[in-house]
Amino acid sequence: MLYAYYLLGAAAAAFALPQDSSAVNGSLDATTYSTATKLQNINYGAFTQTATYSIANQLGYFKAYGLNVTYLQVPNSTYGYNQLLTGGYDIMTGTIDNAVNLRFNQKQPLTVTGQLDGGPELTIASIPSITSITQLKGKPLMVDSPVSGYAYILRKVLALHGLYLENGDYTFQVSLEYFSSRFPANIDKVVGSTVIRYADLVAGKLPDGTPVYATIFTYPFTSQAGDVPTAQRPNILAKISDFIQPFSSSAFTIREAALSNNAQRTLIRKFTSAMYAANQYLASPGSRKCSISAISKQLNVSTSVATSAYTSANDPITGETSSPGGNFTVNRQGLLNVIDVRSQFGGFASVPAGFNYADAILPGQGKLIDYSLRDDALKNLVSFSPSTKC
Ligand SMILES: *[C@@H]1O[C@H](CO)[C@@H](O)[C@H](O)[C@H]1NC(C)=O
Ligand SMILES: *[C@@H]1O[C@H](CO)[C@@H](O)[C@H](O)[C@H]1NC(C)=O
Ligand SMILES: *[C@@H]1O[C@H](CO)[C@@H](O)[C@H](O)[C@H]1NC(C)=O
Ligand SMILES: *[C@@H]1O[C@H](CO)[C@@H](O)[C@H](O)[C@H]1NC(C)=O
Ligand SMILES: *[C@@H]1O[C@H](CO)[C@@H](O)[C@H](O)[C@H]1NC(C)=O
Repeated sequence: MLYAYYLLGAAAAAFALPQDSSAVNGSLDATTYSTATKLQNINYGAFTQTATYSIANQLGYFKAYGLNVTYLQVPNSTYGYNQLLTGGYDIMTGTIDNAVNLRFNQKQPLTVTGQLDGGPELTIASIPSITSITQLKGKPLMVDSPVSGYAYILRKVLALHGLYLENGDYTFQVSLEYFSSRFPANIDKVVGSTVIRYADLVAGKLPDGTPVYATIFTYPFTSQAGDVPTAQRPNILAKISDFIQPFSSSAFTIREAALSNNAQRTLIRKFTSAMYAANQYLASPGSRKCSISAISKQLNVSTSVATSAYTSANDPITGETSSPGGNFTVNRQGLLNVIDVRSQFGGFASVPAGFNYADAILPGQGKLIDYSLRDDALKNLVSFSPSTKC
């Protein structure tokens, strides 16, 4: 058979690759404000439309900060982080494991300016006929990349159930793009980002008919699965947070050089202010109805799915409102867990011996994490309240 998937066993660990304005007083209407001000364009790369983004976009926060945000769907992490480094994206949100990998393994000049979430809806989902983790024995599992943080947490949870990739207890179905440069001859299938893997899991097969069994889901796909007709509805076999907790996941990430470029810094600062204000709105119980409505509109999902997504976005352990201080501070223990899981599976193969991880995760200028832009963003909030009609 010409099956494209490279069935990956013990070899996995061997691949160390990738992946100004003045304050305005009083409540003002975003439309009024935007007509009076020329909007500045900003390119935002993201893997998923988070609740915070949905609110900022739907309820006028970006306009209130004078921004015209272009949302750019990241198709895969290699492409996404390359876009960020070369200027295609001004800012992106991606799991902090990617930034850790790129910065520590490859010395790429990326900076995390804050944490957005702790992995809401991070679950292991399967086709309906599989009802427990142990039934995954002998099965190929869909992952975006075998050396990504989500593949590592999948391995960790399966290992806690006695199943090991390195023992051949299961294999990985990986993307064509990932392996084509290494194994050009025998790969012809694609398993991509969560959007694609979700669709494949619901279908029970890849477009060419190859059966699929399980994968990792992220926000909002665990909620979306709830709306799928019973016969096809994925089973949620495990919540990652029941095994790894706390966990630091989506993080605001920029090119390090943007911090010392006034125009770029101001632009990204405004974006961060808008996201922060939208995040505060998300956290406010009084905004529940309008938040759910914004999520529903942004994702084009039913109110029941949006309500479930809203609940996970506000989860005190994993949600978008769970960062220490509620101000995008990275959960230190969560980041240590990210590093711990990655190192358990050989994910720091290019990091020099004696590397000081404890020092490397301390925030500061020129470090992985730099809060100076976040701090500026919190000092430059405009007074804006979205319409209560939603
Ligand atoms: C905002 O309000 C403060 C205090 O009332 C006032 O001093 C300031 O001039 C106002 N700013 C603008 C831009 O209206
Ligand atoms: C926003 O940006 C997009 C893409 O660059 C552009 O097509 C659109 O005209 C802009 N809208 C405004 C209101 O500036
Ligand atoms: C990532 O996405 C880009 C742009 O869509 C595509 O050209 C590339 O093949 C993909 N790479 C991987 C590693 O999946
Ligand atoms: C929204 O979802 C509905 C039903 O699932 C679909 O018919 C419609 O085309 C979608 N709209 C957009 C803009 O994607
Ligand atoms: C953000 O929250 C952290 C943790 O509670 C706190 O130490 C820090 O001072 C806060 N920073 C800002 C700018 O609000």
